[in-house]
Amino acid sequence: MRTAVMGAGSWGSVFAKILAEAGGEVTMWARRESIAEAIRTTGRNPDYFPEAALPRNVTATSDPASALAGADLVVLAVTSQTLRANLTAWAGQIPADATLVSLMKGIELGTTKRMSEVIVETAGVDPSRVAVVTGPNIAPELVARQPAAAVVACTDLSRATAVQEAITTPYFRPYTNDDVIGCELGGAVKNVIALAYGIATSMELGENIKATLITRGLAETTRLGVALGADPLTFAGLSGLGDLVATCCSPLTRNRTFGEHLGRGLSLEQAQAATRYTAEGVKSCLAIRDLAHAHGVEMPITEQVERICHEGVDPKVALATLMSRQTKP
Ligand code: 13P
Repeated sequence: MRTAVMGAGSWGSVFAKILAEAGGEVTMWARRESIAEAIRTTGRNPDYFPEAALPRNVTATSDPASALAGADLVVLAVTSQTLRANLTAWAGQIPADATLVSLMKGIELGTTKRMSEVIVETAGVDPSRVAVVTGPNIAPELVARQPAAAVVACTDLSRATAVQEAITTPYFRPYTNDDVIGCELGGAVKNVIALAYGIATSMELGENIKATLITRGLAETTRLGVALGADPLTFAGLSGLGDLVATCCSPLTRNRTFGEHLGRGLSLEQAQAATRYTAEGVKSCLAIRDLAHAHGVEMPITEQVERICHEGVDPKVALATLMSRQTKP
């Protein structure tokens, strides 16, 4: 199996390692030639997990056409909001029957589209050619070959199975699922709930309310999913509850950490300066809120995270709003 991993960020780099350890031939595309060259010459990505040696069957290039040439799998691992521009540039170079695999856990701003929808639209491929890999997959744990499971979601089960085989290792156990909408939505909304969890953590709130954030966060994710046509049971699985629990409870995740800064009273800009990244949920919360409004779905936690991030609302005020919200019978 020949794979192109388009993106040399945190998850892209770890996923390339998993693919290679499962026996695939992997070419990573890095935006900067200096990173591609470092991977080629030292077998390590200096930006992400430099301590981790990449197997010999991983190479890298900054030329998208040579990464994509002859690929059976094209793994898309760029940041969610840059997918459309990147894929527009690459679309003509994607081999005719390649499976496109999305690792991204975001919703596009402005269009409120899921990443697989952006792929179908931009690459002009049939939806059955797009698979989504998601689940509780915290990158630093996987670099250390800590055991983990994931979901490969695709409407074409034979493609899902081919991706599953390409990424199965003794420490990585992928399942298949045909509910692309549910799997993808769970991955995107959990980032927003993890921001809320991080905020609650640095406000030194107790376990009762943090468990409530996870549980009610899952409830609002499921409500939106059902409105979009997902199977509600998907949200009880790895891509829903699994990823939500891992991302909230691990102090290593970017979304929870970013939330912790916000909960200490830092503004969005100050939190960005402190972390040197923008957590995926910070942008996606706007698109998810818009998607919920468009479908008449109530997402009170997402709503308050959006207000804290983008409207400068004090987390204490957001908490009071959530606590005094009218409950429904
Ligand atoms: P972040 O580190 O971006 O918060 O996400 C972790 C994750 O998606 C685990 O599955």
